[in-house]
Amino acid sequence: MWRYRELLPVRAFEHVRSLGEGFTPILRLPSEGPASELELFLKDEGGMPTGSFKARGMAVAVSRARELGLTRLFVPSAGNAGVALAAYGARAGVRVRVYLPEATPEPMKAACRAYGAELVTVPGTIRDAGERARAAERSTGAFDLSTLREPYRADGKKTMGLEVWEQFRAERLPDAIVYPTGGGTGLVGMFRAFLELRALGLLEAFPRLYAVQTEGCAPVVRALETGAEQVTPWESPTSSAPGLLVPAPFASERILEAVRATRGGGVTVSDDAVRAAVGGLARTFGISASPEGAAPWAAVPALLRSGAVRSGERVLLFNTGSGIPFLGSPSL
Ligand SMILES: Cc1ncc(COP(=O)(O)O)c(C=O)c1O
Repeated sequence: MWRYRELLPVRAFEHVRSLGEGFTPILRLPSEGPASELELFLKDEGGMPTGSFKARGMAVAVSRARELGLTRLFVPSAGNAGVALAAYGARAGVRVRVYLPEATPEPMKAACRAYGAELVTVPGTIRDAGERARAAERSTGAFDLSTLREPYRADGKKTMGLEVWEQFRAERLPDAIVYPTGGGTGLVGMFRAFLELRALGLLEAFPRLYAVQTEGCAPVVRALETGAEQVTPWESPTSSAPGLLVPAPFASERILEAVRATRGGGVTVSDDAVRAAVGGLARTFGISASPEGAAPWAAVPALLRSGAVRSGERVLLFNTGSGIPFLGSPSL
């Protein structure tokens, strides 16, 4: 992804600490049943270093932090961002502390430790982990890499939008992109990419952005449906997808802006549909998806039913992370 370095915030290339992230494949999904009217594609982020799209953001944020002379970083995470920060922290030689909800899959906790990060587990959701982290780190001098509280992770996620543009531009860009949404960096980053491509004179019509959430924690979809300007925190949140269990995303105005400005929308899926989609993607297409990454595939029937996507359209789903850390998990 460093092919786009002119659009990334690291000033001097010698500060980049890469693990070979980016330029993930786009797979054509031969579709059956109702989805056969669509041209369906899936961008598979599961093969990224550390197994998810979170590597993009952390590669940029850690490289820039290093360039700015920071030596201690921390993040509250649902799992994947913590694993990514642990790995890039090791790569860059900076100290890392990761705050995870207690219920995070054990392989993700183990991965953080294996990369040499210090791990703190906290009861509750990422919201509780965030509160604990910011309170505990107030006087340590460590820098906070929480979702959208610093600018550079979203710049890393921007590379997904740049890649979509580059990978599709020889034919036709997708009409719609369907993305699993927790804290919202993926959508915010891609929207930023499209704005920059337009400013460069390289893009006119933006793909519509659709946020997918699970029924037990869908604050972004609710705000889109009610026309709210901000998200209100979701009460008693639950989700089979840890990365989507974000009851009160910090920068919700920016998520809503990305969806509304592209004339996209929001859609919810049930936990059962997510579980079925994880199994279906593996058995039907050989794709290993995390629950978050399977959610866009689970959302296709609802998007068709509501008329959000229409016959003949090109629709790009994002599998944001590998299913490997979830293998054998009792909840799937
Ligand atoms: C695999 C996966 N997909 C999607 C998400 C949600 O991403 P965002 O918080 O950028 O909306 C996460 C967040 O943890 C994740 O780990």
